[in-house]
Amino acid sequence: MRAFIVSENEGHLSLGVCDVEPSPVDAQDVLVKIDCSCINFKDALVASVASRVRRVGRLVAGVDAAGVVVESSSDAYRRGDRVAVHGGSLGVARDGGFAEFVYAPTHYLSRLPSEISTRDAMVIGTAGFTAMASVLALEDRGLHAGARVLVTGATGGVGSQSVTYLSRRGFSPVASTGSPDEDAWLLERGATEVVGRDEISDRPERVLGSELWDGAIDCVGGATLKEILRSLRYGGAVAASGLVAGAELDTTVYPFITRANALIGIDAVEAPNATRDRVWAALGTIAPSVDFSTFVDRVLPLEDLAEGLDTIRRGATRGRILVTVSESGASL
Ligand SMILES: NC(=O)c1ccc[n+]([C@@H]2O[C@H](COP(=O)([O-])OP(=O)(O)OC[C@H]3O[C@@H](n4cnc5c(N)ncnc54)[C@H](OP(=O)(O)O)[C@@H]3O)[C@@H](O)[C@H]2O)c1
Repeated sequence: MRAFIVSENEGHLSLGVCDVEPSPVDAQDVLVKIDCSCINFKDALVASVASRVRRVGRLVAGVDAAGVVVESSSDAYRRGDRVAVHGGSLGVARDGGFAEFVYAPTHYLSRLPSEISTRDAMVIGTAGFTAMASVLALEDRGLHAGARVLVTGATGGVGSQSVTYLSRRGFSPVASTGSPDEDAWLLERGATEVVGRDEISDRPERVLGSELWDGAIDCVGGATLKEILRSLRYGGAVAASGLVAGAELDTTVYPFITRANALIGIDAVEAPNATRDRVWAALGTIAPSVDFSTFVDRVLPLEDLAEGLDTIRRGATRGRILVTVSESGASL
């Protein structure tokens, strides 16, 4: 099969398409014929020199795939089932989704709701899964329809889908972006307001800022997450999933002990099956009201993946980059 390989040898990184045989890690692994994949920020980290995310020297990259089961010895999945494959060590320590086929254990698989095509599943991908998991976490915390929720990194994969999913569930999403030309696109995605990336700091001379947000979905981390924590209303919460601006968090305990705020961690990678099922079911519920094609930045063949990874690394995407794995690209 054709596959996009990341390989590093003595500090020399090579990226490219090769012919390889799909091989199971475990005899119970399910074989999925991939219709479509997509690029996530994590793929750019995997395809870097001395990556701390990639755990092997050579592998088929791609942390996401969607397709159809072609071989399974499990009762849970049968030939013909339409599935998303993500999480665990897929595309990090074992062969991933930038290929025509992938072997995966059943706990990496989610059966797709009938409302979601395999293509739309990859518009969603790990980023959209994380977005919906974040929305559900805020709802679990007690945030109600109408709540004003800040979304950072709003033109990216997690951010743009967070804006739309919040909007579909009745929230009032405020999109924060460093891409000043994308206001109209973000408003079309469901944002009620767009603010600049540097405009979320309030009363910096004080320990806490004004109570600006009922909640927040943050995939940026670093100083951005610090500023969000300074400006949540009493009882508010932030669902934090990412680190594009940095992994360090320099904050105080005041948001927690004087405003009863919560910092909720979101993880898509090791999410248990019950969480995966709940998130995909919620995505199925809103899918009929979402035009997923409007999130597609571009569709790339395997041969052009290096360019796509670079675009993600530079934070220069709007929405999602899909990956067509077949030579003809016919399935997309
Ligand atoms: N916890 C999990 O399980 C999980 C799952 C998925 C993703 N993530 C993490 O979530 C983050 C976002 O992933 P993604 O796939 O959405 O990435 P993405 O598509 O590249 O989007 C990231 C967005 O962040 C903004 N941004 C980029 N560089 C920035 C900087 N230096 N400072 C502030 N904002 C910056 C940009 O949006 P604007 O131009 O609009 O500001 C960019 O589009 C990554 O850290 C990823 O690893 C975590």
